Amino acid sequence: MDIRKAPDPQALARQAAAYIAERIATVLTQRESCHLALAGGNTPRATYALLREMDLPWSRLHFWFGDERCLPAGDAQRNDTMVKEALLAGSPPPPAQLHGISAELGPEVAAQQYTQALSRIERLDIVLLGLGEDGHTASLFPDNPALAMQSRAVPVHHAPKPPSQRVSLSMNSIRDAGERIVIAAGEDKREALTRILAGEKLPAATIGAATWFLDEAAIADLCDNAVLQKQRKSE
Ligand code: 6PG
Repeated sequence: MDIRKAPDPQALARQAAAYIAERIATVLTQRESCHLALAGGNTPRATYALLREMDLPWSRLHFWFGDERCLPAGDAQRNDTMVKEALLAGSPPPPAQLHGISAELGPEVAAQQYTQALSRIERLDIVLLGLGEDGHTASLFPDNPALAMQSRAVPVHHAPKPPSQRVSLSMNSIRDAGERIVIAAGEDKREALTRILAGEKLPAATIGAATWFLDEAAIADLCDNAVLQKQRKSE
């Protein structure tokens, strides 16, 4: 885990936004377009608000979603509603560059449609992810059958975080992406991070190599302790 620690959520957003912009630019030195999957939830809002004001190569960006909640289109609690407000307000990308999840159709139909859309690209270049208090990421929750599904997008039922029905990138899609960036803030994420740093295979711990942007409240001295424990074990 490549951990980048920030003193507070605002500094975290600044660091994450700068890094995301830098990684997009790097992708575009090799590819015509950059396919970026966006995280849902609340944490990324501050990062998205900074990215919105940056001089990104918008015409070469394709926006995908890490997951979507099965709620009516336009519902305030949908992740695409948050993204449209926080990141895309004022300059929405052309429809051909915004690949939403039609989660209002229900998990199975929407997952199948999103899998078909994802199948038109080789892979996602960058996947932004959040971290749930139980160690979930996207809408891949501990012990949920969706974790083992192999298609590019998967239907999710019985999610412990409402709504219970969702659509998510599969773990395969996340792992196969060019790179992964996790953004997590707040004391309520500390337990999940503690368990992950202790080696527990929570969903967020199984995404593969990733860059983790964490604020002080989330990580505190966990990282140092984890490193010290490993050092003690190896002595
Ligand atoms: C969702 C998200 C979910 C989120 C985490 C963290 O639909 O809720 O996709 O994976 O990223 O639960 O949420 P917060 O950023 O709101 O803490």
